Amino acid sequence: MPKVSIEQLIDKNKKDIIDDYFTFLKYPSISSEPEYKKEVLACALWLRDYLKKLRFHVELWPTEGHPTIFASNLDAGPEKPTLLIYNHYDVQPVDPIEKWHSPPFTPTVAKGAVYARGAQDNKGQCFYVLQALKLLLKRDGALPINVKWCIDGEEEIGSPGLSTLLPKKHKELRADYLAVIDLGLRNVKVPAVTLGVRGIVTMDVELTGGTTDLHSGTHGGIAYNPNHALVELLASLRDSKGRVTVPGFYDDVSVLSKKDKELLAFDFDADQFAKDTGAEPLGGEQQFTPLERAWTRPTLEINGISGGYAGAGFKTVIPAVASAKISCRVVPDQDPEQIGKLVANHLKKAAPKGMKVSVHLHPGAGKAARASLKSKIVQATAEAYEEVFQKPCEYIFEGGSIPIAPALAKASQSEMVLFGLGASSDLIHAPNEHFSIDRIEKGIRIITRLLELLS
Ligand code: BES
Ligand code: MN
Repeated sequence: MPKVSIEQLIDKNKKDIIDDYFTFLKYPSISSEPEYKKEVLACALWLRDYLKKLRFHVELWPTEGHPTIFASNLDAGPEKPTLLIYNHYDVQPVDPIEKWHSPPFTPTVAKGAVYARGAQDNKGQCFYVLQALKLLLKRDGALPINVKWCIDGEEEIGSPGLSTLLPKKHKELRADYLAVIDLGLRNVKVPAVTLGVRGIVTMDVELTGGTTDLHSGTHGGIAYNPNHALVELLASLRDSKGRVTVPGFYDDVSVLSKKDKELLAFDFDADQFAKDTGAEPLGGEQQFTPLERAWTRPTLEINGISGGYAGAGFKTVIPAVASAKISCRVVPDQDPEQIGKLVANHLKKAAPKGMKVSVHLHPGAGKAARASLKSKIVQATAEAYEEVFQKPCEYIFEGGSIPIAPALAKASQSEMVLFGLGASSDLIHAPNEHFSIDRIEKGIRIITRLLELLS
């Protein structure tokens, strides 16, 4: 008797699939906010129990922060290859909460999409992997290849825990291939495999001007306002052409090969960008094209500024302290820790007189990652995408980061591929994040096909 198709199985199990997806999304697994520690753990335990029921061997690897889930099914045997999959179950914070049209942890369907924090990044993408494995096991009683699965609980804070575990887990992680499934497409109708992501390093800078907040009338004109000192200091980080002025910042940036340049030759649709985001594409180094800027050049961004009074109404105050959060995206050959030090030194050196400056570099920096176009895993992934989309696959890059990716490829000694079904309109990290149910289905089909192709 011929096998039931995965499409038929998806159709038959649709209600269960959506129910389980919603259950997963209801856990507020926000890794960056300490008060959610219990909820993050509850989410990990739900996943662990779900996987245990599916003939997976499951371990929770504790870290100083949130645990990593490590699951494996090696029943295919030593003649078959081993695929290590990477996803994350933690999510970003929800603020500004008042901008959500439905509560972020109450999944809500509208126009064929599910709205919730994590609906796409990365629970939605983790979930289609889970369903693909479940349906294959249900239908065939076994997987076509050996599968190891690392589900991180700290990706959104740079995977500090998992990165300290890697040296101790070489044996467990050893694989032929690594699939990092936390990426997206350039266009939801066109299949794409990602060949590179940027790395990242993040820091806080704090300026202290005095021991107390002051009345801005009594002391204004005498005391040096830390808010002013901060904006002056931050302004010194870039020139008017968008180039970062920190000495040494670009020293290790490699020149693009002709091949890489060809891969970047997509048209950037400025109108579409403006339509999707409401923003003009005017940021970054002006001498480069928008895609070069996002995919191949390092950046420095101020992600948050605080100091003084920013609530309703008004308060005439000179604050004692002002602070900012800064991140740098790095490209191949740059060392994120080194870049962090360069920026920190510059901030300390350039700090205005009268200000005490402190810089705190966050743990969880990660290098840029590259996948090889010619590798077997990239080619198999592209083939799976082409079958599902019935269109030729694109090769793209992504400006965002998966900080643990290069270290995980190294620890597992495997060939890496980066992919996913995200779209730039999914609003990941923003209010009203969503993911279309159609892409959950496509994801299930791509993963099952990829496993078959690798066997
Ligand atoms: N899934 C994203 C990376 C991504 C972003 C892929 C956009 C495709 C399009 C990932 O979860 C992420 O957001 N990473 C963070 C890491 C950081 C907080 C340490 C990032 O890039 O900001
Ligand atoms: Mn994210």
